[in-house]
Amino acid sequence: MQLFDAVVPAAGVGRRMGSTVPKQYLELLPGKCILELTLEKLLNYPAIHQVIVALSADDKLFSTLSISKHPRLYTVTGGAERADSVLCGLKATQTKWVLVHDAARPLISTADLDALTQACLAEDCGGILALRSVDTLKLSTASQTIARTVPREQIWRAQTPQCFKREQLLQALTQASAQGLKVTDEASALEVMGMPCQLVPGSALNFKITTPEDLLLAKAILSYGS
Ligand code: C5P
Repeated sequence: MQLFDAVVPAAGVGRRMGSTVPKQYLELLPGKCILELTLEKLLNYPAIHQVIVALSADDKLFSTLSISKHPRLYTVTGGAERADSVLCGLKATQTKWVLVHDAARPLISTADLDALTQACLAEDCGGILALRSVDTLKLSTASQTIARTVPREQIWRAQTPQCFKREQLLQALTQASAQGLKVTDEASALEVMGMPCQLVPGSALNFKITTPEDLLLAKAILSYGS
């Protein structure tokens, strides 16, 4: 079986959540925070060899989680931007193929992980989970009126995990950083370098917990499922 190391950037503060605690530490299930559930999902996936979590330099909470003692979980100090945190984590990986997954997407399923990893191995090409846009899309003017409608046929919403060959991602992120490019996901770094990356249909349940509404929704989904 092809094994994957996974990098989880968790060094952000989650400003849009408006909470004093970084959002990844907010409780999702009784006694379990968002980050713990995300890490459990990855560590329980048989093809994942080890998980590297990137934490902020002043993180005091991670070591209080029982999962922090897991034998296949390692930590690194993250950076100023998400891409910096991913690069720090990536340097600690050892497998040919790697996965990068947001700390704030705890509802990732085995089916999603299977779909992504199988597509990447089958095509021998990096890829990301993504969703086709179902809404009609509007481009805004600076004053928040509608400039125009954007054709949605070719629009996909990027999710994580994103799966790449380690050396290719390392090269793309290092070059993007050297050029001062702002990349908000790993695929953007590959795009800029002209490297191919496939879109693998994911699930709407694998949303990123960003706002208090998202947290409510995730809690409701988890309570329904249990
Ligand atoms: O802010 P956003 O939700 O897009 O962040 C996505 C992920 O990147 C989160 O898991 C967050 O903790 C992480 N991140 C990071 N280092 C930063 C900024 C964000 O690891 N400097």
